[in-house]
Amino acid sequence: MRLLSGSARLAGVIGWPVSHSRSPRLHGTWLNRHDIDGAYLPLPVGPADLAQLVPALAKTGFAGLNVTIPHKISVMALCDRIDPGAARIGAVNTLVFTETGIEGFNTDGYGFIANLRAHGVNPAAGPALILGAGGAARAVAAALQDEGTPVTFCNRTERNAIALAAALPPGNVLPWEYRSAALGDYALLVNTTSLGMVHHEPLDISLEAATAALAVADIVYAPLETELLKTARALGLAAVEGLGMLLHQAVPGFKAWFGVTPEVDDELYRIVSGG
Ligand SMILES: NC(=O)c1ccc[n+]([C@@H]2O[C@H](COP(=O)([O-])OP(=O)(O)OC[C@H]3O[C@@H](n4cnc5c(N)ncnc54)[C@H](OP(=O)(O)O)[C@@H]3O)[C@@H](O)[C@H]2O)c1
Repeated sequence: MRLLSGSARLAGVIGWPVSHSRSPRLHGTWLNRHDIDGAYLPLPVGPADLAQLVPALAKTGFAGLNVTIPHKISVMALCDRIDPGAARIGAVNTLVFTETGIEGFNTDGYGFIANLRAHGVNPAAGPALILGAGGAARAVAAALQDEGTPVTFCNRTERNAIALAAALPPGNVLPWEYRSAALGDYALLVNTTSLGMVHHEPLDISLEAATAALAVADIVYAPLETELLKTARALGLAAVEGLGMLLHQAVPGFKAWFGVTPEVDDELYRIVSGG
C-alpha cells in the first residue's frame, strides 16, 4: 500500500449506518491496484448532519462521495446539478465535487446493465418483468427503458407498482399472484425485492412457465447465489447475480474522482465478497 502525500485525492461513502458498506473494500482494491495517491473512507453521517457535512466535505477537498441509505433522496436537495438520469430515478448515489458545485448522479442502473452484459445477457432481448417497486426497481426499470426494453412491475403492494409505472411511462403492472404464470411472456426476470436476502423471507416463485430464452437476474447479493438463481441455473436459464451490479455501479464514481477507469474481474468479486 502506498503512503499518502499532502495532495492525495479523497472520496468516501456516507450513510447511517455505514459499517456494513462494501464500498471501502471495493474502491480500496482499485486504489491499490492502480497505485493511486488517494483514499476512500467510510463516513458515518446521520440524517441531522447531512446538510452541514456534505458541503463541508466538498470544501475540505474531497473529490466526491457515494451515498447510501438513508440519504439517497434527501441528498438531492444539496446538489447544484442533478444528472437527468438521476432525476428520472429520483435518487442520487454518487456525488462529484467540482469547482462549480456539487453534481449528483445515479449509477445503479448503469451497474445493472453493465452486469447483464458482462454475463452475456442482452438487456434489449425482449420485455422485462421486474419484481418489486422500491428504489432499486426504479433504477433498474429506468435503465432497461433507456435500452428500449418494455418493463412490467409486479409488486406485493400493487399501488406501489402502479405509482412506479406512472412515474416511468409506459410501464405496465402485473398482479403479484401472476408472477409465475406470466413468465412465458418475458425475456428477462429481475428480482429487486429484498426477498431471498439473508435474514429475509425466500422469494416464492416457480420458473416452470419460462421459455428457454428467459434470463434471470437477482440484485440481492447476500447470499451471492440466491435460491432464485440456483433454480434458474438448474433449468438451464441464464442467471445473473447481484454483486456484479454493485461492482459495476462503482466504476463511474472511481473514474470521476481518481481519473482511472477500473476493471471488474474475478479477483474483485473474491475480495469484495470476502472470499
Ligand atoms: N446489487 C446491487 O447493487 C443493489 C443495489 C440496490 C439495492 N440492492 C438490493 O435490492 C433490494 C431492494 O432494495 P431497495 O432499495 O429497492 O428496497 P426498498 O425500496 O425498501 O424496496 C423493497 C421492495 O421489496 C418488496 N418486499 C419487501 N418485503 C417483501 C415481502 N415479504 N414480500 C414481497 N415483497 C416484499 C417491497 O414490496 P412492498 O412495496 O410491497 O413493500 C418493495 O418492492 C435489497 O435487497 C438491496 O440490498 C442491490
